[in-house]
Amino acid sequence: MSIILAIESSCDDTSAAVLRDQFLLSNVIASQEVHRRYGGVVPELASRAHQQNIVPVVDDAVQQAGIALSDIDAVAFTRGPGLLGSLLVGVSFAKGLSQALKVPIIEVNHLQAHVLSHFIKETDSTPTPRFPFICLLVSGGHTQIMLFHDYFEYEILGQTIDDAAGEAIDKAAKIMDLGYPGGPIIDSLAQNGNADAYHFATPNIPGFDYSFSGIKTSFLYFLRDQLKTEPDFIEKHKEDLCASIQETIVGFLMKKLEKAVLKHHVNQVAIAGGVSANSLLRQRIAEAGAKHGWTTFVPQKKFCTDNAAMVGIAAHFKYLRGEFADISLPPYAR
Ligand code: KG4
Ligand code: ZN
Repeated sequence: MSIILAIESSCDDTSAAVLRDQFLLSNVIASQEVHRRYGGVVPELASRAHQQNIVPVVDDAVQQAGIALSDIDAVAFTRGPGLLGSLLVGVSFAKGLSQALKVPIIEVNHLQAHVLSHFIKETDSTPTPRFPFICLLVSGGHTQIMLFHDYFEYEILGQTIDDAAGEAIDKAAKIMDLGYPGGPIIDSLAQNGNADAYHFATPNIPGFDYSFSGIKTSFLYFLRDQLKTEPDFIEKHKEDLCASIQETIVGFLMKKLEKAVLKHHVNQVAIAGGVSANSLLRQRIAEAGAKHGWTTFVPQKKFCTDNAAMVGIAAHFKYLRGEFADISLPPYAR
């Protein structure tokens, strides 16, 4: 049995979690409100907020887990990719704490952590994917179709050649002046909209790769044209616009994912990352699963966006292999 304290600070969420083996004991997340008024994450402000949040967040996670600091067997942290200044806060804190507790440190890759969140157990009966499985990782920074042969052994079958899906959704929201982050706002406005109202072309990209910058541009130009004759076009049609752009992006994501899964004859299919919180994507993956006879894995909402529980589960599997990091290890941005 092992107890791992995990820290995530790669972007704008400061999070700490405690796991006993695969079981989650606590998962505390402090989201940074400071970025809202800038319509995006401001790196300097993010690292400052991480510095303010990290001690109380770790303290809460330890308290809620009902453990003592002396019970901790290893301290895990996100090493990258992410914002360097943000990562540094978590990495330095984890190293300092591990030195004080005289326990090893475990470095975790943020993208692998998103996917491995499917192995977090909250009860004995939590279902987990069997290998091999395919995961569509969709977040604000990444869009990849990954084929997992083992916890840390995977192939990237396809990925975006420009913007990430979450980035495209956030930019569409910004164009409509809906607020930040746009993903959840578009998701909720789309509930009352007609997804067939407007059509935006998706690019022809070979294989299982994606591209989202063209969709964003055609959305922008379409709105510019409409606003010339109808200045309150966005305000009047925002539900339909949200439903239509969401349909375009989710439809494109699903089309490539389905092709990749069918080609590789896999029947375990997962989604992960912030955009996996999207209602339409969650519905579509369930429908595709029913149609093709796949077992599908959709993370609980609290494990979709950045959190330390996913870092802790990845660290658990490294702990079992004795894969510890050296104290001199630096973070990496990309
Ligand atoms: O995984 P995450 O927290 O951070 C990164 O590693 O990038 O993902 C954040 C992204 C943002 O683009 C956000 O708008 C998007 O996830 N997102 C959503 C939803 N909730 C979060 N996108 C669509 N629908 C949602 N419900
Ligand atoms: Zn993330």
